[in-house]
Parts: sequence; C-alpha cells; structure tokens
Amino acid sequence: MSYETSLAYAPSNIAFIKYMGKADQANNIPSNPSLSFTLNDLCSYVEVRKVKNMKTGVSFVKELPNINVINNAAQLYRPQLSNVEIKRFTHHIDKVKEKSLDVLESFHLGHESEGFLEIRSANTFPLGAGIASSASSFAALTLSLVYTFCSNKEKFLKVYENDLNFRNLIAQISRLGSGSSCRSFFGPWVKWVGEDVFPVKHDFPNLAHFVLLVNKDPKKVSSSQAHQLVKTSPFYQTRLLNMPEKLKQIEDYLKAGDIKNVSAVAWAEFMEMHSLFHTSNQSFSYWKPETLEVLSWIHPSVGVDQSSPIVTMDAGANIHFFIRNEMKELFKEKLQRQFNRFEILEDSTGLGAKIIC
Ligand code: DP6
Repeated sequence: MSYETSLAYAPSNIAFIKYMGKADQANNIPSNPSLSFTLNDLCSYVEVRKVKNMKTGVSFVKELPNINVINNAAQLYRPQLSNVEIKRFTHHIDKVKEKSLDVLESFHLGHESEGFLEIRSANTFPLGAGIASSASSFAALTLSLVYTFCSNKEKFLKVYENDLNFRNLIAQISRLGSGSSCRSFFGPWVKWVGEDVFPVKHDFPNLAHFVLLVNKDPKKVSSSQAHQLVKTSPFYQTRLLNMPEKLKQIEDYLKAGDIKNVSAVAWAEFMEMHSLFHTSNQSFSYWKPETLEVLSWIHPSVGVDQSSPIVTMDAGANIHFFIRNEMKELFKEKLQRQFNRFEILEDSTGLGAKIIC
C-alpha cells in the first residue's frame, strides 16, 4: 500500500489581551482583537498519513506519531479523544479539505486530497495539566493537513517560511477549528484582528514562562461556553469600548521594551476577563482558593519595574508567569520555595507552527 506522511509541530500560546466573546460564532471571529505570546516546548505534534489507494475517510489512530524525528520532546502524551472531540476534529478536517483548495491553488502549489487519512497526535503536556490543548492541536492538525493536501511540498516549505500572507491564510483555516489556534502560527508576539493574524513589532528580551498548576480538575465551563456567557455581563460592552485604547497601549509598551507597563496591563486584562465570568448571568468562576493565594502573593511585584513578572490567567484556575530569561532560575527557586506543593511547568519564547517532515 502506498502512503505518505506529514508531521507538524505547533506550540501553545498565551494571550495577554484576551479573545473573549465572538462576533461570529460559526467562524470564530472574535468580538475584539487579541495579543498573545507564543510558547515553545508546550506543544502538539500531529502526523497525517495519507493512504493513497484507499477510499477517502479518516481514522484517529491510538498510537503516537513517529517520535524518532521529534527531538525536543522529552515526553509525549497521547490525547484521549472523547466522541465529541473526534466529531469536532472530523468536522475540521472536512473544512480544511474545502478551504485549503483555494489557498493552495492561489499560490500555485497544487491540491490533492483524495485518499484515506490516519491521524496520530501527541502533546508534550498531560491532559488536565491546565494547558489548553485546543490552540496547539488545531494548529498542528491544520498545518499537517494542508501540507498533506499540497502536491508541491518543496515549494510549500519555502512559501510557508517566507510569505507571512500564506501563513496567515493557513492560520485562518485553523481558526475555524478553534479561534486561539490561529495565533500559534507566528511568534513570539502575535496579534489577531477579525480574520487576520500576524506577528507584532516588539523590543522585548526573550522571556521564560512558568505555569503553576494549582488545580488539575477538568473545567466545568469550557472556553467555548465562556465566549457566549460573557455577553450577558453588564461590563461586556464597556470592555469592547475600551479595547482599542488598551491594545494601543500594550503595543506601544511592547515596541518600547517596557516590561513594567506590559506587566500592569496584562494583570488588569486577565482580571477584567475573569470579572466578566463573575458577573455573567449565570455567573461562574474558575478561581480556587489556591488561585487567590498565588495572586495575592505575586500582586505586590506586578508593574513595579523592568524586572517585574508578567502574570496572566486563561479560562482556568492556573497562573502563568513570564519573566526575563536571565532572571529565570531565581524566579523559579522563589516559586518552588513558596509553592512546593504545586507542579510547575516551564517554557520559553517560541516562533510558531512548522512542518517537521
Ligand atoms: C480564555 O480558542 O479555546 O484562552 O474558538 O471556541 O475554540 P474557541 O475558543 P478558544 O478560546 C480561548 C480563550 C482564552 C483567551 C485567549 O486565548 O485569547
């Protein structure tokens, strides 16, 4: 039987200005622009094997991708997909087939989607580690599929490397599966406005990332549900009105390499998002007592000077910290000393999704 395989890597990303609320639910068009930081090692790998002489179809294989070619991953975890998740991925695969046709043809890359697809995937973080896997897994799946469907692979790699517009178009297809995944195609600082996603100018040093896992229970409210519920908060419209100013501020601070003020804006932003959760009709919260303990511990050092940590939270209970690389060891020791009962995951600055082979 003749087959060909494509393996893609995509990192997770953490937003400092959050995507929360959708203007178009079916296409994951956000109500407001967002700005994120791309991670490096917390990532997904997706391998697509196209069996050419078999009827068109798809199966999610319970095996890891071919790890021999993956060198930066110490340990890989195979996601246990529920029926709902399999349905969501299968629906996305159909979308990628349809949408990649125009993109590949407009870049004269050829499109060939016939054949049976076997999908193998892995994350470098375990399920329930408090890292949203949808961004990295949809990005890796999309990239791997588009590459699989392309008939001129050599040219694809060159265009993907050099043409940000091409990458943006693939990111747009990925967005249809999960919104935040579109930001995982670029790095380190990425802006997503409406349909478009692109890297932003900055004068920032490389940052180290830590996430303190204070709670690993499955979330009771998914981020997709949160996107709908926040619209019932009385503060939602005010947030949208203030957004252009907030975004301009953080972009200016990024350009100026001003960590102190990025730290202050990021703190205010995640607090605002969680306030929407707390004031929705029905109100809900991701916070645990441990979340508050950590937040009150770190708060005095936020927005103080150029060595301040940048702190943020996603739709979950865990807390993300970003710190200048040269202060990484010192900060880690501090975290470990204070919170030795919690697991800490560590990462660094990343540049976005790519084809491995
Ligand atoms: C809180 O991208 O997970 O992490 O488009 O429904 O898949 P869907 O939502 P998702 O939302 C992420 C929300 C967030 C903030 C952010 O990453 O910007």
